[in-house]
Amino acid sequence: MLNIILMGPPGAGKGTQAKKLIAAYGIPHISTGDMFREAIKAGTPLGKEAAGYINEGRLVPDEVTIGLVKERLSKADCQHGYLLDGFPRTLPQAEALKELTSELHSPISGVINFSCDKDELIRRISGRRVCRNCGAPYHVETLKPKVEGVCDICGGELYQRKDDTVEALKTRLSVYYKDTKPLEEFYRQEGLLHEVDGLLGVDELFKKINVIFREVDQR
Ligand code: AP5
Repeated sequence: MLNIILMGPPGAGKGTQAKKLIAAYGIPHISTGDMFREAIKAGTPLGKEAAGYINEGRLVPDEVTIGLVKERLSKADCQHGYLLDGFPRTLPQAEALKELTSELHSPISGVINFSCDKDELIRRISGRRVCRNCGAPYHVETLKPKVEGVCDICGGELYQRKDDTVEALKTRLSVYYKDTKPLEEFYRQEGLLHEVDGLLGVDELFKKINVIFREVDQR
């Protein structure tokens, strides 16, 4: 079973790899960041609550995020595996996930932890552009679309996320080091942690993650 978590700092490449992995493995991509952005776009009560936190780079409160993931993981399409991207990010979230997966009799099978140095994270985040329609990530220097401002995949408009400003990124990085990085030890102790080098090129990194997926799937 592939119940996988992608973990790592903002800009390490989790979303980019997730898009390739779901195409290869056919499992659902559960990105809490994407779920919040969709709720903001739709103007739902959840979106209104989450917007202030997200735009400033702070975490949405645990009880809100945990409730959202519980509901999503209980859906039928998650019965044969899933890719969690951006959850858990705090110890209470990791503990709630452990309890939930135990109730569902389907534990987490592996955690892929992306490492990446701070200068590169800043370069990637400040140059990132995202498709407003399908969410595909681009970069103004390293991953340009064929036509400027237009998504290669769906023709949607490319935009810069509100939390990709230097100020919000500072907060996101400090939140990552304080709240999320300690989860490495949590998952190391569970025997689930697999480290990958986020500085590798997109295709090379994808190959390494595929090897881990095969190992995890055969257990
Ligand atoms: P979220 O959407 O999860 O953002 P993030 O974790 O900060 O991650 P990013 O999407 O910024 O980066 P990424 O690692 O996916 O990088 P990407 O592949 O795009 O969360 C946003 C906010 O939502 C949070 O701040 C919080 O407020 C809230 N939230 C979400 N989950 C929450 C939770 N569990 N609890 C509470 N609040 C929560 O790549 C970045 C750039 O680099 C792109 O331009 C890409 O083209 C380029 N790139 C990618 N890979 C490579 C590579 N290998 N080489 C060169 N360039 C690359």
